[in-house]
Amino acid sequence: MLDLVAEHTPYRGELLAAFERVLDSGRFVLGPEVEAFEREIAAWTGVPHAIGVSNGSDALLLALQAVDVGPGDEVICPTFTFFATAGAIARLGGIPIFVDSAECCYNLRADQVAAKIGPKTKAIIAVHLFGQCADMDPILTAAKKHGIPVIEDAAQALGAKDKGRQAGTMGTLGTFSFFPTKNLGALGEGGLITTKDASLAEKIRKLRVHGAKQKYFHEMIGGNFRLHELQAAFLLVKLRHLNSALSKRRQSAENLLMGLREKWNAVMPLESCVCKGNGQAKDERPSTVLLPFSCHSGKGEHTWNQFVVRILGKGERDNYRTRLEKEGIQSEIYYPRSMHEQGCFLKHKISGEYPMAERLAAESLALPLGFIPGQ
Ligand SMILES: Cc1ncc(COP(=O)(O)O)c(C=O)c1O
Repeated sequence: MLDLVAEHTPYRGELLAAFERVLDSGRFVLGPEVEAFEREIAAWTGVPHAIGVSNGSDALLLALQAVDVGPGDEVICPTFTFFATAGAIARLGGIPIFVDSAECCYNLRADQVAAKIGPKTKAIIAVHLFGQCADMDPILTAAKKHGIPVIEDAAQALGAKDKGRQAGTMGTLGTFSFFPTKNLGALGEGGLITTKDASLAEKIRKLRVHGAKQKYFHEMIGGNFRLHELQAAFLLVKLRHLNSALSKRRQSAENLLMGLREKWNAVMPLESCVCKGNGQAKDERPSTVLLPFSCHSGKGEHTWNQFVVRILGKGERDNYRTRLEKEGIQSEIYYPRSMHEQGCFLKHKISGEYPMAERLAAESLALPLGFIPGQ
């Protein structure tokens, strides 16, 4: 789906220099590269605190731990997401309370979040799926009313915006992944937590190193969740090229939208955003291919971490996939099964209905951004 060798070729020299700098420093754990990266990415996203951690899954775990999620606590999150979102809740003994998806952006139905808040709700995780922000205002309003923290799972959305506000800066905490396929990818693993709250930042810095500010004096149960010094050095190089990488992504997405309209007869699923529950799926459509919809009208708010179309008709998605494979085009299914249907969560006796998430699991197909559609 992604040619990482080609992606790194223009700054190969800078990456090699970063490697040499770390090699020659002899500092491999929480040294000057991590510090510099945290400083630069905090400035880039516009938050006072950024904490480099081991990966995006651990970033979620630490964020939940920082707001004291523990056994029996409920955390609201979308059902149509990557496993780590719900997995982090369960790793702490919490119970994920799922929300269905919006037809427009595939993000959690922001209008349904308030109704899911109950006496055991300890936090809300809003995921900015595929590089596009969830509709944050209704979520933030509901959370504020009940005094509940909001964690933004921005693993796929570094650089995305909702009404000009950067992903990961709107809630209590933002979490990011630097898995190689993300908007900013490490040459390995990495993650980040952002926050405006100095005391939460301080707590996360302790949790990152076994709950100790002073070595061997443990105030809380943490773990080893450190971002590697070498990865921080690579990420610093790539962060300096991030704006142009995001512009390129947006241009490729524009080209692909046009190509799919022309060659595959693809259409937009809706005339306007239905995040607020003000619209309905239309079943009669002139085409079997539905294009990804941008809810945020502001230019450049979507980062297109994944370009996900919907292919309507029973079995049609798989037919398209096979056809593409024959032409040597790789595609992916993000995600074939939503969280409310995963065996590991069934013990929670999940109630509610998730019709849109189930449709997305059956119809979604991620195409490579550089794909040029034929007839
Ligand atoms: C939405 C979402 N959350 C969390 C993660 C976890 O990040 P990582 O793979 O760095 O652990 C991912 C990674 O794919 C993701 O897409």
